Amino acid sequence: MTKPILPGEVAAAVVDPVAYGAWDGLHQQLAWARANAPLAVAENPDYDPFWLVTRHADVMAIGRDPQRFANAVRPTVLTNRDGEALARAATPGNDGHLIRSLVQMDAPDHMKYRLLTQSWFMPKNLKQVEDRIRQIARETVDKLLATGGECDFARDVAAHYPLHVVMDILGVPPEDEPRMLMLTQQLFGSTDPDLNRSREAITSAEQAIAMLHYVIADFENYFRELTADRRANPRQDIATVIANATIDGGQIPDRELAGYYMIIATAGHDTTSASTAGAIMELAKNPALFERFRAADSDKAGLIEEAIRWTTPVQHFMRTARADVEIGGQQIREGDWLMLNYVSANRDEAVFGDPFAFDPDRAKNQQIAFGFGAHVCLGQHLARMEMRIMMEELLPRLKKLELAGEPARVESVFVGGLKRLPIRFEAT
Ligand code: HEM
Repeated sequence: MTKPILPGEVAAAVVDPVAYGAWDGLHQQLAWARANAPLAVAENPDYDPFWLVTRHADVMAIGRDPQRFANAVRPTVLTNRDGEALARAATPGNDGHLIRSLVQMDAPDHMKYRLLTQSWFMPKNLKQVEDRIRQIARETVDKLLATGGECDFARDVAAHYPLHVVMDILGVPPEDEPRMLMLTQQLFGSTDPDLNRSREAITSAEQAIAMLHYVIADFENYFRELTADRRANPRQDIATVIANATIDGGQIPDRELAGYYMIIATAGHDTTSASTAGAIMELAKNPALFERFRAADSDKAGLIEEAIRWTTPVQHFMRTARADVEIGGQQIREGDWLMLNYVSANRDEAVFGDPFAFDPDRAKNQQIAFGFGAHVCLGQHLARMEMRIMMEELLPRLKKLELAGEPARVESVFVGGLKRLPIRFEAT
């Protein structure tokens, strides 16, 4: 069976940060792929070919089969050929993973490591931190209202609240948050020129890898001290759980220890910021929806689930086939690389009626923004809870909300969302 090849413009769009920033054109390409070539190969000059997976059903089928679709073998986030080669040269055993966290692991390590913190992230346990999160949300709302009546919600509010929450529950004190934010941004090496001026000086992949090593070493030093402290003085935070955990009867090795802190410190904030800002944008555009959800007793669950589908902050993850396998009518070969495109899966016409409408009343919202299967987002309940608390604290305190300018999206293939959301509001 020959492999279907995507038209050049579809293949180019799914690796182009600018297309993710512009959004509408990307959706046209993805809709075309879902209808005509839902599992087909994207060929681009600087990237190894990969299967673009655009249908909800195929993304789920791959997610539920981690034995045959692995994370550890090749990069789990789209990386160009040169970048992957350099990362391999720079890592133990040439594995190419500068960081070894849950998303770079397969069985049996993955579950062993995931189980160390999984119960912490379950709704029952999260109740313990609800009051603390509400306090952070209230402080954030007070600051928003103090701006007078106009602000950039993405930059002034959404960018800070989830960062503050995740650092608080991890156990990083407020004075260290700017350092964590800077390291996170350097680590993800944002492709958006507005967000990453420092990278203008970086002209080669070698320099980029050298900078990443430096950033990772800084993270490791920071968390080494935090670990020592929590072993001596246990507290109620996640750092204490990680620092005192054991794997196969021993302490967690340094590389995995740093990877664990880093995945939680990084995965938990710009994702939740993006879905929170996306919800506010839709309310600012639609006065009837805003009126409905600002009522203190309104149920926010549908709004939150739809905002997560609508924004799909994590736009893709990659997998590598460990065996020959037929899926979606196509023959995948061992070693093939696949892009699970969550943006596309969350607009799949076969699953969502009128997928391009923002509808908080979807009867059963099967959004797949948190992924599916063994690697499904560990922080999904926390993300929903943070968003709900923010909506509960913010909306009843506003009597008017509207856009005050053009929103703009981040130019990034991996984690996307609004970087600018100018709003005008009146407090009650
Ligand atoms: C994994 C999305 C918030 C921690 C993931 C994955 C996705 C995702 C798509 C990978 C799923 C896969 O490969 O199948 C999101 C979105 C969020 C969000 C859209 C917000 C709206 C959070 C938060 C935290 C978090 C608040 C924690 C503080 C993690 C971790 C993993 C993960 C640790 C790795 C799980 C594993 O590999 O076993 N997330 N996430 N995420 N997320 Fe989230």
